[in-house]
Amino acid sequence: MKRNLPIGVLVSGSGSNLQSIIDNIESGNLEAEIRIVISNNPVAYALKRARQHKIKTAIIKHNDFETRESFDREIVGILKSCGVELVVMAGFMRVISSVLIKAYPNKIVNIHPALLPSFPGMHAQRQALEYGVKFSGCTVHFVDENVDSGPIIIQAIVPVYEEDTEETLSARILKEEHRIYPQAIQFLAKNKIRIENRKVIISEGKCDKLISIHNPCLSGF
Ligand code: GAR
Repeated sequence: MKRNLPIGVLVSGSGSNLQSIIDNIESGNLEAEIRIVISNNPVAYALKRARQHKIKTAIIKHNDFETRESFDREIVGILKSCGVELVVMAGFMRVISSVLIKAYPNKIVNIHPALLPSFPGMHAQRQALEYGVKFSGCTVHFVDENVDSGPIIIQAIVPVYEEDTEETLSARILKEEHRIYPQAIQFLAKNKIRIENRKVIISEGKCDKLISIHNPCLSGF
């Protein structure tokens, strides 16, 4: 019998990644079901998106809690009561504590708008532009005790152009986020992933056709 993976999605903002997860579930590409969407921001547009699809929501304001741990304890209580098995951080702008990590060991994933381990933390796209890299991209990874540092599941690369602004680069990256996040969750839903040391081994989708890409293009070399 087909079983959909019960997930909980943590959001803080626009929720375009949430939307791509919803759309892929509804189209039958992604074998998961969203049990709850939790936002720390009461006016996050992501909440509207969830409600439009009749998905249960909760608002947990971090300012109402004295410590990171007590905020996380509240979140864990809700996730567990909804039967969530995988926690999906989708633009959730809070650093989580060991309370959440211990409650869901290797069962929390995050998306970051850069090719980790480059440019962790805030404003990753701005950091990439300021550094002058020729490629950037996005990364889906497991969440561990440090910021943006857990084992990497999947990455997508996009070129960075001389005329790029933070907005144009972010938009190019976001398009890829909407593709790789549902894919990563589907790998997990189908039990295709195992972690060895910090390497993620995936028993599907080996990318062996790609040779190399250059930016700018090579002229006869
Ligand atoms: C996305 O670009 C996501 O990668 C980023 O926030 C944006 C959320 O967009 N997350 C981080 O920077 C986490 N460090 P969304 O709300 O439209 O999905």
